[in-house]
Amino acid sequence: MRNKPWATAFLETFGDALISDPTQLVSNWKKRLNCEILHVEIGSGKGDYWNKMAHLYPSQGWIAIEKDRNVAATCLKKHMEQILPTMALINLDAKDISTWFAKGEIDVLHLNFSDPWPKKGHSKRRLSHGIFLKEYARLLSDSGEIQMKTDNSSLFEFSCVEMSNHGFICKELSVDYRRVEHPEDAITEYEQRFLDLNQPIYRAVWRKKDE
Ligand SMILES: C[S@@+](CC[C@H](N)C(=O)[O-])C[C@H]1O[C@@H](n2cnc3c(N)ncnc32)[C@H](O)[C@@H]1O
Repeated sequence: MRNKPWATAFLETFGDALISDPTQLVSNWKKRLNCEILHVEIGSGKGDYWNKMAHLYPSQGWIAIEKDRNVAATCLKKHMEQILPTMALINLDAKDISTWFAKGEIDVLHLNFSDPWPKKGHSKRRLSHGIFLKEYARLLSDSGEIQMKTDNSSLFEFSCVEMSNHGFICKELSVDYRRVEHPEDAITEYEQRFLDLNQPIYRAVWRKKDE
């Protein structure tokens, strides 16, 4: 996304939903968002999924993590009239996620159309690389799960292997998720683009293996 000259000032004056120092909320997210089930979406883009899901499930907590300042500002501008007290956004790189949440604090992690980083040498940057999965496993509750959607078959294959090598069990898998309607799961910005191109959406849900 192109630089938005207004983004920095906009973010600096944005209200409570933008969390500038998430380390201050470790162990307290559910209290802060007044919820019992906590969802975290990593790489939330312009936030359509975050906003739609928070309105579909208003008793649950929804945290969006988006590292790009221009994208995060666009997201908050787009949805500012609809932000619920159960919603929060973190405009930081998820590489530090382990310092923002306590062990077992997250119930569902969402990875929607994550950057594929197709070059082998960049595989460690993929949000479903084992380096991230070890952190997710610690942050997820015992019944916690990871939900992933992508258009990218190579990233999907890589993720399936990484998950099974890092203590996750696949409980749902589809290679054409939108072949049937899923009103319970919102469509993301990227997902809509691929649906418009008639491309299949890959989706899987994993849960943590019992210890
Ligand atoms: C391809 S877009 C998908 C956006 C949205 N999830 C969707 O489905 O429409 C990926 C987004 O993830 C963000 N992102 C990538 N790596 C990230 C990271 N390590 N931490 C936070 N955000 C990240 C990018 O800035 C980008 O906005």
